[in-house]
Amino acid sequence: MKILVTGGLGFIGSHTVVELLEKNYEVVIIDDLSNSDEKVLDGIKQITAKEVQFEKIDLKDRKAVADFFAQHSDIQGVIHFAASKAVGESVENPLLYYENNLSSLVYVLKELLLLGKSNFIFSSSCTVYGEADQVPITEEAEIKPALSPYGNTKQIGEEIIKDSCKAHPNLNAISLRYFNPIGAHPSALIGELPLGVPQNLVPFITQTAVGLRSELSVFGDDYPTEDGTCIRDYIYVVDLAKAHVKALERLINLKASSNYEVFNLGTGKGSSVLDVIRSFERISEQKLPYRIASRREGDVVKAFADTKKANEELQWSSETSLDEALLTALQWEKKIKK
Ligand code: WQD
Repeated sequence: MKILVTGGLGFIGSHTVVELLEKNYEVVIIDDLSNSDEKVLDGIKQITAKEVQFEKIDLKDRKAVADFFAQHSDIQGVIHFAASKAVGESVENPLLYYENNLSSLVYVLKELLLLGKSNFIFSSSCTVYGEADQVPITEEAEIKPALSPYGNTKQIGEEIIKDSCKAHPNLNAISLRYFNPIGAHPSALIGELPLGVPQNLVPFITQTAVGLRSELSVFGDDYPTEDGTCIRDYIYVVDLAKAHVKALERLINLKASSNYEVFNLGTGKGSSVLDVIRSFERISEQKLPYRIASRREGDVVKAFADTKKANEELQWSSETSLDEALLTALQWEKKIKK
């Protein structure tokens, strides 16, 4: 069964490609390499000893997308990761985000509809909830006004898919709202490759641990939480990748209760920034240099998932602890530093 994975050389995309190959799916990757490296393909092949097709295509190029689907009309499903995802960059350059994240989604959906029956998994984010009224956050929680153009593209993306599913019963889709993906494949052959200064906490921690950064800045310790730092739900990337296969198979096996569904993907456990630092110091057996800095614009105080729906409907739950996930992140950082 042939599956298209857009953004398949990215962080979550590459880990999902590995899980699909290991379950004997045929995989075609589209990636524009704007935020990834073709060398990731070698890591995927080394892990799985499987062949995987890769095409460098800019999904904003409507004709290129149409030509691709004309050559691959036997695609049975699409997992759509391709998108720009840096919150700060999206504030500075909103039109880049609206054009890239939304036109690519529209063009892929239009071609999918031409294929007839189709299964579509959308990479969404807990960022659509903004500062939720209560935690843990369920899929029914209110969608608050987005705090960034990036977050808005995820909200609008979900609406585009929902409306398309309503208009076209042949389109079956699931939006997966990730909390905070972290870690790397246990082989240390693929992992997160942040370009430039890492925006996210865990890659900044691992780069500090290997000496690429002098110290971590903790963005505020005066929040209304137990230790004053923000709380998030850090989910191991391989567990997250496995949830994508479960969601795809839910659609392929016609198990969905409607042709558009949404699932939160997290551990269901909240960890503060200081919890993550302590966990990292435990697994790395080294002190992590950090200082308390001022708050970062747009940060929510608390976000962690109510995982009941994914546990029951997808028969999936995250199985990896924060310590284990952080250890894989450190092993990966040491590998790429060589
Ligand atoms: C986590 C916590 C920071 C860096 C973002 C996107 C989300 C998804 C994941 C794409 C916060 C603190 C961070 C640092 C720090 N991305 N922090 N020092 O902001 O929860 O989510 O990335 O899909 O959509 O919004 O993740 O890792 O940036 O921050 O103190 O150097 O760590 O303040 O409390 P975030 P993050």
